[in-house]
Amino acid sequence: MEARKNKFDTLIIGSGIAGLNLARKLAQAGQKVFLASKEAITEGASKYAQGGVAVVSPLNPEDKLDGHVQDTLRSGKELCNEEVVREILSQGWARVEELRKLGVPFDKDFNLEGSHGYKRIMHVGDATGRAIMKPLLDNVSRNHNVFISQGTEAMSLISDAAKTKVIGASFVDITGESFDIFANNIVLATGGFAALYEDYTCPSILTGDGIALAYDAGAKLENLEFVQFHPTVYKAKNGFNFLISEALRGAGAILRNSKEELFAHKYHPDAELATRDIVSRAIFSEMRLMEAEHVYIDSRHLGKDFLRKDFPTIYNYCLAEGYDLAQDLLPVRPAAHYSVGGIKTDLKGRTNVKSLYAVGECASTGLHGANRLASNSLLECIVMAENLANDILEQESQTMSTEQVHYCSDYLNPIPQNSEAEISKWYKDELQEIRTYMSRYVSVERREKTLYATMKFLENLSNTKERTVALLLTKSALMRKESRGGHYRVDSPKTQLGFARSTILSKENIYKKRDQESQTLEDKPSVIV
Ligand code: FAD
Ligand code: SIN
Repeated sequence: MEARKNKFDTLIIGSGIAGLNLARKLAQAGQKVFLASKEAITEGASKYAQGGVAVVSPLNPEDKLDGHVQDTLRSGKELCNEEVVREILSQGWARVEELRKLGVPFDKDFNLEGSHGYKRIMHVGDATGRAIMKPLLDNVSRNHNVFISQGTEAMSLISDAAKTKVIGASFVDITGESFDIFANNIVLATGGFAALYEDYTCPSILTGDGIALAYDAGAKLENLEFVQFHPTVYKAKNGFNFLISEALRGAGAILRNSKEELFAHKYHPDAELATRDIVSRAIFSEMRLMEAEHVYIDSRHLGKDFLRKDFPTIYNYCLAEGYDLAQDLLPVRPAAHYSVGGIKTDLKGRTNVKSLYAVGECASTGLHGANRLASNSLLECIVMAENLANDILEQESQTMSTEQVHYCSDYLNPIPQNSEAEISKWYKDELQEIRTYMSRYVSVERREKTLYATMKFLENLSNTKERTVALLLTKSALMRKESRGGHYRVDSPKTQLGFARSTILSKENIYKKRDQESQTLEDKPSVIV
């Protein structure tokens, strides 16, 4: 394929809302962009987003930026970077308006979600992600400056021979063929890693590839231990985990245990609308007490007309599964949903590695801290795409030599080539083992002993991207000997002041300073040495 031999201004790995929005902006400014996706261009978490985009709007004069900032900080449990929070949230309305002009048909009303002190969720019914993706995709596919490469999995970043900066990435396509792409700017927009668990709300391809690649290239990773479990997920008859949006609880739906009793208020005064870590743990606790596989979400009192009008996707999906939400209780349980930490970036999306950027769920800007506030992710995707585009467009174009290069990773190839179809099966079997261990021991509740055993188990698996991310996540969880946000240690259930700082991992296994004053946690829990 000719385009594969060219050099590009910018290589974007990942075509969710973050990657697509960035590609649109750069291509519009005249840059030549290579946009790669692991499977179909539409497949990522973005398409499935239901609730919407949290934003303070001038249409709601009583709502103030400071309210949204305080809600975000409270949810992040002392680990948000307040400057970043203010900066990102303050740009929200401008970016939403830009999307509206592009053709996203936002509804006029605003929804409420957990831990928001105000109804500030902009949405398009209960299928907001799909509605945002559509005009972005239309725009990008019409622009000849963007070369779209679907079914191409990034396997390694490439640096110059002296390892001073990143200059490209190597990919494998669905036939098993490998190829390299070189560009002045390399952007990771590869989404999260919830699919490292057995039950997850996102597509199965989202296993944190960009995080493994960035780590190998020397990038710092931040707060990987914080994994958000969404409290209300329905397991469909075909095994698909279908999200029941928090907006439904925001509209008044309640939770009942298997004896049909209310229970959320016993765990937190905000009951069903407490932060997700609290509601998820409450559900697991109730399931354990009742020896049940699920609890129920009850929206019967909201009425058929309201449910059909405001939650058509959810209502119709459940109806096809045999549950009329206006009459029936729906069985739900928590599932892995969102990767709160990720590749550490500044407000321009820059990592500590020259020419390497990260944006969207794979990045950690400092917005989410220990626990992401509902609907702050799409907001971060659209705001940070703008910040990155501006930074990239300000860079002077460089001449780069690709004669001598260094491949940062050497992961095993998951794609079966010709007769070696066995590779794929073996790869899947090991991924299943990773998912089993992560779900048992690195889930909503964690303990040092089993985290350590998981680490040892993972160390003996083959060298895959998935294994690397699972291992780094487990190490981060071992390092944080306290409970905070999306990280709950049964053996250390209290939040401890001394841990009010970020966990940083980087390849050099270093003990580094973050900002001037606060030191990051050591990348070596004492138990490992
Ligand atoms: P994604 O949309 O996940 O896209 C990742 C891209 O990376 C894909 O194109 C994939 O192919 C590509 N990729 C990955 N690995 C590779 C590789 N090795 N090589 C090449 N390409 C690769 N957030 C909100 O704020 N509001 C909501 O209402 C909301 N609802 C949600 C509902 C569901 C069911 C889910 C799963 C998430 C929801 N979230 C919500 C979270 C939000 O949708 C995501 O955080 C956000 O869409 C992430 O966008 P992204 O562009 O970073 O990544
Ligand atoms: C939801 O609609 O409940 C998901 C919102 C989010 O993940 O931010």
